[in-house]
Amino acid sequence: MDYQYIIVEKIDGVGLVRFNRPKALNALSPELMEELGDALLAFDADPEVGAIVLTGSERAFAAGADIKAMAKASATDMLLNDLISKWETINHIKKPVIAAVSGYALGGGFELAMACDMITASESAQFGQPEINLGIIPGFGGTQRLTRAVGKALAMEMVLLDRRLSAEEARQFGLVNHVYPVETYLDETLKLAKKLARQAPVAVRLGKEAVDKAFELSLREGLDFERRAFHLLFATADQKEGMAAFIEKRRPNWQGK
Ligand code: CAA
Repeated sequence: MDYQYIIVEKIDGVGLVRFNRPKALNALSPELMEELGDALLAFDADPEVGAIVLTGSERAFAAGADIKAMAKASATDMLLNDLISKWETINHIKKPVIAAVSGYALGGGFELAMACDMITASESAQFGQPEINLGIIPGFGGTQRLTRAVGKALAMEMVLLDRRLSAEEARQFGLVNHVYPVETYLDETLKLAKKLARQAPVAVRLGKEAVDKAFELSLREGLDFERRAFHLLFATADQKEGMAAFIEKRRPNWQGK
């Protein structure tokens, strides 16, 4: 599929999406987000793809939602055009998604990364919610996902004072899985994604869903969800294969069913 604002490719079971608006530091315009949504749904439906990686350039993962596309909008324009709802596709993807971040991950760029399942960072990554400087606040989870990750004190400072996090700080706060040198961050992320793509697909899907429930449900409801998902996996051929392979001391051969 030909896109104008993103580049997509498949590498050994991994669907890779690169944002491609270098001159605008990958600002997430409505058109780019439309293409991203389309590519994510295509990869989610593609049986050859087991994991997805979103990335930008070394200089910028994404410097936020496109300010130029919003500058003149009225509240009713924002409400009726509901551009942010186009961003929601990421929340409906069943396969694991990793954000590979280098350089700026600001505003909506940071929020998009936080909506992924894991974040890897190059040593130059910088995470922040600078919306306050524009007279607005984050609109895609920056006050919610960030606060759950870093706690109230730091979230307030980031949202109200544009305090930024380095890659290493973000890792210490549990926002980032791994920090790599700039030269290798994408290759290392692809290795991680290929590993994810080789896991038992149904278990990966339910494992992702169950971890996400921890942010949405009470502990009791979350535990109930987990138990049902755990039981359900005993209906899969992969559970039989995984346990047989363990007992027979061989590698499992997953079928994804
Ligand atoms: N939207 C539109 N264009 C952007 C942009 C954005 N978010 N971020 C950068 N650009 C454009 C600049 O306008 C500039 O374009 P021109 O050459 O046509 O002027 C180009 O990218 C390069 O940017 P700079 O010249 O500013 O580069 P710099 O190296 O001096 O600074 C930066 C880099 C610190 C990231 C700076 O560009 C910046 O502060 N960008 C805005 C960050 C921001 O406020 N993001 C939040 C957006 S609102 C949001 O995301 C809402 C939400 O929660 C959903």
